[in-house]
Amino acid sequence: MYRSHTCSELRPSHIGSEITLAGWVHRRRDHGGLIFIDLRDRYGLTQVVIDPSQEGAHGIAEDVRSEFVLQVTGTVRARPEGSENKNMPTGGVEVAVKSLKVLNPSKTPPFEIDIEKDANEELRLQYRYLDLRRERMKNNIVARHKIIKSIRDYMDRYDFVEVETPILIKGTPEGSREYIVPSRVYPGKFFVLPQSPQQMKQLLMVAGMDRYFQIARCFRDEDQRGDRQPEFTQLDVEMSFVDAEDIMSLNEGLMIELVEKFVPNKKMLQKPFPRLTWKEAMSTYGSDKPDLRFGMPICDVSELVKGCGFKVFADAVAQPEGVVFALRVEGAAGFTRKQIDDLTEVAKIYGAKGLAYIVMEEAGVKSPIAKFFSEDEMKKLVETSGAKTGDIVFFGADTFDTAATALGQVRLACGDTLGLRKADELAFCWIYEFPLFEYSKEDKRLVSAHHPFTAPMKEDIAMLDTDPKHVRAQAYDLALNGSEIGGGSIRIHDATEQAKIFEVLGVSKEDCEIRFGHMLKAFEFGAPPHGGIAWGIDRLVMIFQNEPNIREVIAFPKDQKAKDLMMGAPSEIPAIQVAEMHIEVMKEA
Ligand code: AMO
Ligand code: AMP
Repeated sequence: MYRSHTCSELRPSHIGSEITLAGWVHRRRDHGGLIFIDLRDRYGLTQVVIDPSQEGAHGIAEDVRSEFVLQVTGTVRARPEGSENKNMPTGGVEVAVKSLKVLNPSKTPPFEIDIEKDANEELRLQYRYLDLRRERMKNNIVARHKIIKSIRDYMDRYDFVEVETPILIKGTPEGSREYIVPSRVYPGKFFVLPQSPQQMKQLLMVAGMDRYFQIARCFRDEDQRGDRQPEFTQLDVEMSFVDAEDIMSLNEGLMIELVEKFVPNKKMLQKPFPRLTWKEAMSTYGSDKPDLRFGMPICDVSELVKGCGFKVFADAVAQPEGVVFALRVEGAAGFTRKQIDDLTEVAKIYGAKGLAYIVMEEAGVKSPIAKFFSEDEMKKLVETSGAKTGDIVFFGADTFDTAATALGQVRLACGDTLGLRKADELAFCWIYEFPLFEYSKEDKRLVSAHHPFTAPMKEDIAMLDTDPKHVRAQAYDLALNGSEIGGGSIRIHDATEQAKIFEVLGVSKEDCEIRFGHMLKAFEFGAPPHGGIAWGIDRLVMIFQNEPNIREVIAFPKDQKAKDLMMGAPSEIPAIQVAEMHIEVMKEA
């Protein structure tokens, strides 16, 4: 027996007992004779004291350093009056050590484990096993486990079956880039890693599984960001004989249960979750994942600026799909020139050509563009945007998507500056009626906004031939505090309708057969009406744990350049192994 108790267990009721603990040296203090060690394990800390009279133990303790692994045996005693530590669950007692054994020494760690001070992230990722010893990281990993366990319990309660689906599958390029695995047995052939279990879960519906879920690992070879990893974890769900409402309410129930259980101190702002169409979300908040912790809506002033003296605005609304949107920021009149320039940069990153603004000063409107408007025109702009003294109104003149997106990002930046994005508030919302397709500038054609199995809205089906760009999908996303944490749709279960979608996407019959033949075939054998959703578990845990990025809630993440710094992956492999795969590595030019 290595230990009789963990390092978080001992209390005054144990005083007088002989116990054994094992753990790491968290802190060591030498008080001229008496040596104090805070011994740490996963569960907590216990103070152990080594008196010089215990010669053997004391001799060893003199050489012990941070992160050595020790086993100590001794007697539990009360701490001397005045030296109790109320912040530590074991702070009322200490262990008077009789024997001490070094189970393993340790090199000096590259960063301090016992201090929450932020170490360099590259080092933390390189030595992740040491980073995970730190309190905050340990808490994140344990919280993640508990959240996933609760998800499994909830799904089980509602009669869902967890089914594992394969990691080596067929490549069906659509959406993000896939990771490719060459086959040794079949020269020139490849598996890919799934971007999600999408096709498998639909095939499970054809199989009659009815209610499926999986805590599923997904792989996407795409550019990294704070809330993206090349491999990440989804709660993946699919259901038969349901409509969007059934899927949304089941998932909303799960989300509310998780919040109440794991972050009861956070304030859930609206329950049931508000629902916005994609069009409403874009035109009001300039985002398809709006942060609803604060208001600050965008308003449309296109009608007011038709033919006005400011050419930028007048020209914009004269274009097809051209608009001028206004964003009133309450109490922002004090923003400095630099702050306004920074916001202009934000707008430009999202495609805007500029960021016109008016400042509502006591003395009246002050603005570089004021001179282009008559008094009456300006009065109407101010009225429509709702601006009052002390505010700023920003303007975006462009196509709908660009003007909305750029002002949406300016809105978020202002929300940050004004402290409106509070960490202790949770604002969930559903976004629905997404466009079925989006235009890819790269490929110069329509691509699926979600994936090609997403069903169009029934009332828009006729538009597939005439105006595909404006066909809406039976798709929905769940957003939380400005982050997209889930998305799904009702699927097409009819082979003719599916063929129609591929036609609009410009996928030829042959190509369709090669890529999706297995799906189309399955759909000929009585596919039930079905739909589903998937959530980003990493993103949810990140928000619950108040972490700034998803790497903090993943035990062994990749860095921002998709590298594993601890193992050093990706790496070269021996030439013989490359040859076995029937592939050749091209020398970088
Ligand atoms: P989607 O691609 O929207 O849908 O993914 C679902 C959710 O997964 C999370 N997510 C990510 N998290 C971390 N890193 C990434 N690179 C990453 N990419 C996505 C997001 C997102 O909302 N098969 C469909 C779901 C369906 O239709 O049922 C799918 O994968 O939180
Ligand atoms: P200019 O006439 O180009 O100096 O622009 C005058 C103001 O209008 C500046 O504050 C620009 O940032 C802003 N502006 C220019 N183009 C746009 C646009 N498309 N939308 C919003 N503001 C713009």
